[in-house]
Amino acid sequence: MPLLIRNADMVTADSRSRGDIYIEDEAITRIGPNLDAPPGTEIVDATGKLVFPGFIDPHVHVYLPFMATFAKDTHETASIAALVGGTTTYIEMCCPSRLDDALEGYHLWKSKAEGNSACDYSFHMSVTKFEGATEQQLREIVTDGIASFKIFLSYKNFFGVTDDEMYQTLQLAKKLGVIVTAHCENAELVSRLQEMLLAEGKTEPEWHEPSRPESVEAEGTGRFATFLENTGAAGYVVHLSCKPALDAAMNAKSRGVRIWIESVLPHFLLDKTYAEGPGVEGMKHVMSPPLRDRRNQKVLWDALAQGFIDTVGTDHCPFDTSQKVLGRDAFTQIPNGIPGIEERVNLMYTYGVKRGVLDLHRFVDATSTRAARLFGLFPRKGTIAAGSDADLVIYDTGYRGMLSATAQHTNCDYSGFEGMEIEGRPSVVTVRGRIQVRDGKFVGERGRGRMLKREPMYF
Ligand code: URP
Ligand code: ZN
Ligand code: ZN
Repeated sequence: MPLLIRNADMVTADSRSRGDIYIEDEAITRIGPNLDAPPGTEIVDATGKLVFPGFIDPHVHVYLPFMATFAKDTHETASIAALVGGTTTYIEMCCPSRLDDALEGYHLWKSKAEGNSACDYSFHMSVTKFEGATEQQLREIVTDGIASFKIFLSYKNFFGVTDDEMYQTLQLAKKLGVIVTAHCENAELVSRLQEMLLAEGKTEPEWHEPSRPESVEAEGTGRFATFLENTGAAGYVVHLSCKPALDAAMNAKSRGVRIWIESVLPHFLLDKTYAEGPGVEGMKHVMSPPLRDRRNQKVLWDALAQGFIDTVGTDHCPFDTSQKVLGRDAFTQIPNGIPGIEERVNLMYTYGVKRGVLDLHRFVDATSTRAARLFGLFPRKGTIAAGSDADLVIYDTGYRGMLSATAQHTNCDYSGFEGMEIEGRPSVVTVRGRIQVRDGKFVGERGRGRMLKREPMYF
């Protein structure tokens, strides 16, 4: 059935206009004033609300075997949480470990998502070793529609690659025209610092941050940039958390290195004191890179406002409290990660746009459009235009509420943002023209999501 959105105040990364939006066969077909519609068309009146392109989360974990356990969401729970929060597309990290076969891993991740996601999705393919079969396998995965790789400079012996493996991955990526996303922390230093702190009897969650200090992230970021510079590949730093790492990336940008920067929701709003709480309270906020000293938050917001930080993701990675306590005797055993897929848009709108630190268009750019452009989804996703997929968020700026685990859709028994106020939330969310959410409730079709085939961008 066609859908007509009347009186839309449309906000994209670079424009604002009023009109009606007509949707047929999953796509926007017409935009203009007072559009007519055939009988039987479903009509939604958007008067008084903002209409955004569907938001894109470029960094999430759904299926994830990690740190002796599995992240808690399924593709059904994660995608419903995403949609309720206004995210209509997510890119999941496909993360087989060094012990696994990459191609088998890719097929496993694909099979987990297929038919189970309520919104569209893609994968960044992790390269966690580089050996005989790797090049051929990665070529096959790129041909299947995956236009980005992921490497970890951290998590030694599990996901982490050596410098030589990083070099080979970047060389191949350059040839294939795909971008390489990277978790930038020095694995050797993290491992030595962890050993040293534990030997001193420092076992509580508060020691997680000192085991991965800002300098360790800055070194990883700088090294990744140097490898990009010397291979000519294009790269994207994931979850950048602090000023020294930002300086390293900006320095590389100024030398002409093709490097883009993502920061994630927790680092804009939470600081390391959250991880210093006693027992499981602190453990809930253990992630990598860790929550930082508060002084970094203004640096991140300023860089985001100016577009130096390109995108805001979540690194959504829910481990519940029964899993977090695996680290009761040693902070190194606390499963790293925090949920956020549901909260990202509302929190960035409230603490960015509403507080006057983030321009409305930059907000759309950072949470949707720029990820679409970088990862080969634009203009299908990330904008409101005739021909684009009809992924739309009709946003109620008058809504007032408070975040709580009791009301969330992600499969986790806590919220890292418990008690935070929000000033706005999606009122209607569509995925390719079908209404999936109304006023905080999922009302849609569970298996609607499709894997998006992406073409290499040859940056
Ligand atoms: O703490 C985190 N970030 N957990 C998920 C794995 C990763 O590094 O992205
Ligand atoms: Zn990471
Ligand atoms: Zn991650």
